[in-house]
Amino acid sequence: MDRKTPPNTYKSFLLMISMMGILCLAVGLALGNPLGEAEATHPFWFRSIGIVIIAIGMGAILLYEEKRGRNLRQLVARKSEELKKSEEKYRSLIESTEDFIFTVDESGRFQSLNNFTANFFGGTPSQFLGQPLSVLFSKEIASQQLKLIRMVFRFGKSVRDEFMVKTGEHQTWLNANLMPLKNEQDRVVSVLCIARDITENKKLESQLVNTEKLASMGTLAAGVAHELNNPLGVMLGFTDLLLEKFDKEGQDYQDLKTIERHGLHCKQVVENLLSFARQGEGTPEYCDINDAVNEILGVVEHSLEMNNVDLRVELASGLPKVKGDLRQMQQVFLNLINNASAAMKAGGILEIKTALDAGQDKVRVTVRDNGHGINAEHVDNIFDPFFTTKSEGEGTGLGLFVSHGIITKYEGTITCESSPEDGPNRPRGTAFTVLLSAKEGVEV
Ligand SMILES: Nc1ncnc2c1ncn2[C@@H]1O[C@H](COP(=O)(O)OP(=O)(O)OP(=O)(O)O)[C@@H](O)[C@H]1O
Ligand SMILES: [Mg+2]
Repeated sequence: MDRKTPPNTYKSFLLMISMMGILCLAVGLALGNPLGEAEATHPFWFRSIGIVIIAIGMGAILLYEEKRGRNLRQLVARKSEELKKSEEKYRSLIESTEDFIFTVDESGRFQSLNNFTANFFGGTPSQFLGQPLSVLFSKEIASQQLKLIRMVFRFGKSVRDEFMVKTGEHQTWLNANLMPLKNEQDRVVSVLCIARDITENKKLESQLVNTEKLASMGTLAAGVAHELNNPLGVMLGFTDLLLEKFDKEGQDYQDLKTIERHGLHCKQVVENLLSFARQGEGTPEYCDINDAVNEILGVVEHSLEMNNVDLRVELASGLPKVKGDLRQMQQVFLNLINNASAAMKAGGILEIKTALDAGQDKVRVTVRDNGHGINAEHVDNIFDPFFTTKSEGEGTGLGLFVSHGIITKYEGTITCESSPEDGPNRPRGTAFTVLLSAKEGVEV
């Protein structure tokens, strides 16, 4: 509770004293001797006391007003300082946040924007002030935002929106909240927009959808593979029987051999489908990575030669075993080699290297080609399920997704570096690096 005497009470008290002074003066004047008798002392005293009281009262009022003015000035200065501090606090809050914050007028021109927004679009806030939305966003996004801004101005209610902005090669998804800023008359004077980067969430969302697709595809693949396995086995068995009945030099024998080759190819596809469907099963094992590479090279060497691919293999000796199942590792390298070969349709160089990593606790496998490389806009997507740049029938876009799944299951990493053109530091081509945990103790 405020125990101070209210300022107006002091002032009224002083005014009352002054009034009393005026009263005394008036009485003195009223009693005054019109004939100017010298002995008339009463009126003289009343007048004198009145003047003194008025002087004291007025002086006290002046002093009081002066003090009050000084106090007021101090109060204003203190409040201004507090206001400045709180403004600075909010400004630094707005500037330190990694959200896009800006205000716009009804025509969509920037009235203010935080550093994060300006820096994201490669500028400074002052550069964009007074500029239309289209300096930052594409035409379509800017006009979509303008429609929403006008809605906020019209109805005075917040609206939410999600949109994608492109900066160079990068695409960023934003979730924006547009809010009205009103004046004392409750009129909207500008729109405040706070937007957040939700690219990662979007990716996860689509990955979830794809994972579900993949799970049902796994079930389907397992079913189809199972149904095909038996008739394929029968066909291959009878081909084998027939082969024994024909002369090896005859045309019939060669035809049967072709049937057998294609039958075996189908069996391989079915086995791949089954191994894909079974992914995630099994216990972690250790394998010799050089064996995995050598065995897979045995399968692909011939087709690489046919495609004019110059194969350069450098396998370090005495490597420790690595965490991973041999067949699944082969699946990974088969996909990396097939991808490299597909990127060098007119031939090229394929390097495959194994080595002990610098930390000695990991084995590094590098598969490098000098093919057409991967465009910067695609690099972020190559491990996504169903991402492919190959035409229909040539690729499903599952190879790297499944490979990534296998490697990470065994706590390894798989990374890619690619360059679609020859550069000063990096020649054209693609390199995949797989790092796998070595079995404890290095067997050199
Ligand atoms: N060595 C490479 N050189 C150039 N592009 C590559 C290379 N490796 C992968 N890519 C790109 O990554 C995409 C995805 O590869 P991924 O192996 O996942 O699928 P795919 O090869 O298209 O189909 P799938 O392997 O299922 O038959 C490819 O379509 C290709 O655009
Ligand atoms: Mg592939």
